[in-house]
Amino acid sequence: MKPILKWAGGKSRLAPQICAAFGGPCEGTWFEPFVGSAAVFLYRRAKNKLGRAVLSDVNPKLMAMHIAMRDDVDGVIRALERLPSKDWRERYYEVREAFNDGPHEGPEHAARFVWLNRAGFNGLYRENRHGTFNVPLGSYTKLTLPEPALFWRIHQLLQGVELVVCGFEELMSRAGPKDHVYCDPPYVPLSATANFTGYAKGPFGPVEQLALADHAHRAALVGAKVVLSNHDLPVVRDELYNAVRGFEVYASPLVSRAISRNGADRKAVAEVIAAIGPETAVAFASPVKVVRAA
Ligand SMILES: C[S@@+](CC[C@H](N)C(=O)[O-])C[C@H]1O[C@@H](n2cnc3c(N)ncnc32)[C@H](O)[C@@H]1O
Repeated sequence: MKPILKWAGGKSRLAPQICAAFGGPCEGTWFEPFVGSAAVFLYRRAKNKLGRAVLSDVNPKLMAMHIAMRDDVDGVIRALERLPSKDWRERYYEVREAFNDGPHEGPEHAARFVWLNRAGFNGLYRENRHGTFNVPLGSYTKLTLPEPALFWRIHQLLQGVELVVCGFEELMSRAGPKDHVYCDPPYVPLSATANFTGYAKGPFGPVEQLALADHAHRAALVGAKVVLSNHDLPVVRDELYNAVRGFEVYASPLVSRAISRNGADRKAVAEVIAAIGPETAVAFASPVKVVRAA
């Protein structure tokens, strides 16, 4: 089950392993607070293994795309058909400008989002500090858009799903007994040292990583099962998802990752799939304290 979008850190390939880490069916609600392209949700729902689901991301333009897919897929497909096909390279910046001018909701917005994702550089999503999407034209010779059948399939899978724009804290604090939560945050950089003191703060720095681990621990203490992905680094195993609080490393898959700008050179990078649930969470373990980089 492929998602509509190519998304940095997308989990299509790892979805079976990630879902297996939950150790059984979800009897409560599925929460996914870093939903991106929704690869894991789509995989799990397509296998008929999910009832109620709430998906969120901090990116409102991305969530508006998922909302249009759920509520007006026919409109999205028709709007996509009106976007450039043969002369797509010449007209890339025209579509990008229309996307930035808005509106940032509805089928036209969703169609432009998908089109730019396929026509732009490496499927990147990046905005400048004014919130303007600024990814340049991709280097492909042919524009490959997903087939209408995939739009309809995803539309079906999104029926009844609650789609929210929010930070992970808000969604995770809603998790309760028997719920499943999958967290796929921006990763700790591979350059991070053995503790958090040497790792520069970014939009998702040590404070956010530790807050996420705290939320996962708390959700497990109230009865939810939480699975998290990250780079397989000592700082991740020892400080974030540590055994003292009841985290377990379920798997550490090797993932092939593009390392050059054109995506041609690849190397294998180790990731970790960690889990914590009511059966393992240790109530008395105190949270790890963050020491901010100077
Ligand atoms: C690694 S991607 C998730 C990829 C997703 N699992 C998939 O298969 O496509 C991380 C996502 O987290 C979102 N994000 C970043 N900071 C966030 C925050 N503080 N709260 C919620 N979402 C956040 C980003 O917008 C991005 O879509």
